[in-house]
Amino acid sequence: MHSFHYNNGSLHCENVPVSEIVSQNGTPLFVYSAQTFRERFKALDSALADLNHEVAYAVKANSNQSILKLLIELGSGFDVVSGGELYRVIKAGGDPSKCTFAGVGKTKEEITFALENGIYSINAESEEEAVFINQIASELNLKAPIAFRVNPNVDAKTHKYISTGKSENKFGIDFDRIDEVYQKASQLENLELRGLQMHIGSQLTSVTPFIEAVEKVAPLAARLKEQYGIEFFSIGGGIGIEYQDALASGSESWWTDSEKTNLPLTPERYAESLIPLLKDLDLKILIEPGRFIAGNAGILLTKCLYEKRGTSKIFKIVDSGMHQLIRPALYEGYHQIVPVTESSHETEVVDVVGPICESGDFFCQNREIPVFSSGDIVALMSAGAYGMTMASTYNTHPLPAEVLVDDTNFKIIRKRQSYDDLISHEDL
Ligand code: LLP
Repeated sequence: MHSFHYNNGSLHCENVPVSEIVSQNGTPLFVYSAQTFRERFKALDSALADLNHEVAYAVKANSNQSILKLLIELGSGFDVVSGGELYRVIKAGGDPSKCTFAGVGKTKEEITFALENGIYSINAESEEEAVFINQIASELNLKAPIAFRVNPNVDAKTHKYISTGKSENKFGIDFDRIDEVYQKASQLENLELRGLQMHIGSQLTSVTPFIEAVEKVAPLAARLKEQYGIEFFSIGGGIGIEYQDALASGSESWWTDSEKTNLPLTPERYAESLIPLLKDLDLKILIEPGRFIAGNAGILLTKCLYEKRGTSKIFKIVDSGMHQLIRPALYEGYHQIVPVTESSHETEVVDVVGPICESGDFFCQNREIPVFSSGDIVALMSAGAYGMTMASTYNTHPLPAEVLVDDTNFKIIRKRQSYDDLISHEDL
């Protein structure tokens, strides 16, 4: 079923009225649909069935222990970007030998932790890092499985802050230098060259940049397999999702019919475009989706505290803000805003803003949305990825609670922070 839909004017997550969850748990609150996580994972996994592949969920999108556990149960691998994320996967019951470790700035402690736990691959992003990993591996008396991240210099055509595959970005090793870098690394005794990785950006709504990057890098992967016996090629994450209209219009619409046709890039289209370019490599192909699996699976619920009618604008002041969903402030991200209880079909042009002392603290500006008033609860749609994981306690607001819905059941998967939690690591 479409995870979020109206039933008799009441917003539901799967088969639970959102208002019921809010009345028990308050706001601000993240609510996730377990079914959507499962559907999205399975849709990608089965679209790639013709390929020797592994889906390595990008933990940074949503790293709650219950979400990771749900994905572990589906057989997911994981892409982590810190020791903390690897720790989360291990604590949720995940297997480090199904984990890759990405990121430009890994510390000695993190590399050691990953190696001691049997990580599948550390994806190095510079020559210095490879030398450092070699040194740590030698101290630990083991061989470190590594890959290099190549920067293919391909334009992902996405927001500049989430574009990563151009040579001016800090990520990866320039395409022109990569052969030389592998050659040098092959001389280092405590490294095992296990793979090749790339990731050109996030929220890609067209398959064209993926095709361009794979066409450019696949011959390199083939060469590295021949020269160094690498066993995997990770083509990264980045599959974009629907943000503009993330809600089913009627209660009867089902995921497969309505939501799938809404997707800017379906798993089928992604797979049918890329499989022909990858199949003959005879390598294990990894993909690292984060947003595609988590994005549409969550919403952020917030209460309208006040309405302020200025001379030029109407402000709706809500109890959540940029500290809990930073995407509008940081990437001009669009999140649909809808009432939890539909009262009328009237709309008005407003700014929805939070309590934070920053002018950038808005969820929308000059947007025509359904009318709501003080005391009403609204939902920010498609907040399941890069919502809670990017939340902070700026202005000393406790982090929100998180709830996971599964069919007619729901449970708290993260308690709301208390004031005591907020100061618990500080000394007088
Ligand atoms: N692999 C690597 C190496 C990455 O850096 C990322 C995301 C992914 C996979 C997953 O990408 P996805 O499938 O989710 O697009 N906070 C931003 C997105 C930042 C993405 C960072 N890297 C946002 O809210 O739009």
